[in-house]
Amino acid sequence: MTQQDVTFTVNGTPHRVTVEPRRTLADVLRDDCGLTGTHLGCEHGVCGACTVIVDEVPVRACLMFGVQAAGGAIRTVEGLAASDGTLNVLQNAFQAHHGLQCGFCTPGFLMLATWLLERDRPFDEAEMRHVLSSNLCRCTGYQNILAAVRAAAKELGKWAESVNA
Ligand code: FES
Ligand code: FES
Repeated sequence: MTQQDVTFTVNGTPHRVTVEPRRTLADVLRDDCGLTGTHLGCEHGVCGACTVIVDEVPVRACLMFGVQAAGGAIRTVEGLAASDGTLNVLQNAFQAHHGLQCGFCTPGFLMLATWLLERDRPFDEAEMRHVLSSNLCRCTGYQNILAAVRAAAKELGKWAESVNA
């Protein structure tokens, strides 16, 4: 099948790959860029394990073709910690609040929550639950995931107390 040259950045680093147009962004990131932090669960848009940020929007990397990311700025879980390995506020909150069990869903939750935390307005409990409900944790560790994102939001000044709280 015809291959196509594609360039994009991942976590600020330029990448040039030659891929078949049928291949998903998730597969391109994992197999061509060697970034296996992006996980694949359902591979059809349901679980959110593959969530990455493309041009400041969270996307399911199993539903996007690699060629569609041409020219884009992609962010993956590998880009969250500092270059010396120091975890960021959200990652530390996941650790402190036991926001993972097997860890398989964690990269997707971290990227989705990163998008939530980086928006220019605070969010409350209801909005957090609404946004994070798009991702599945098969260990059912939801309460601790919510606690972690809530704690990170408070630390980063992004938490809004609910009117009905
Ligand atoms: Fe992409 Fe499940 S692997 S949504
Ligand atoms: Fe196991 Fe989420 S921690 S699937």
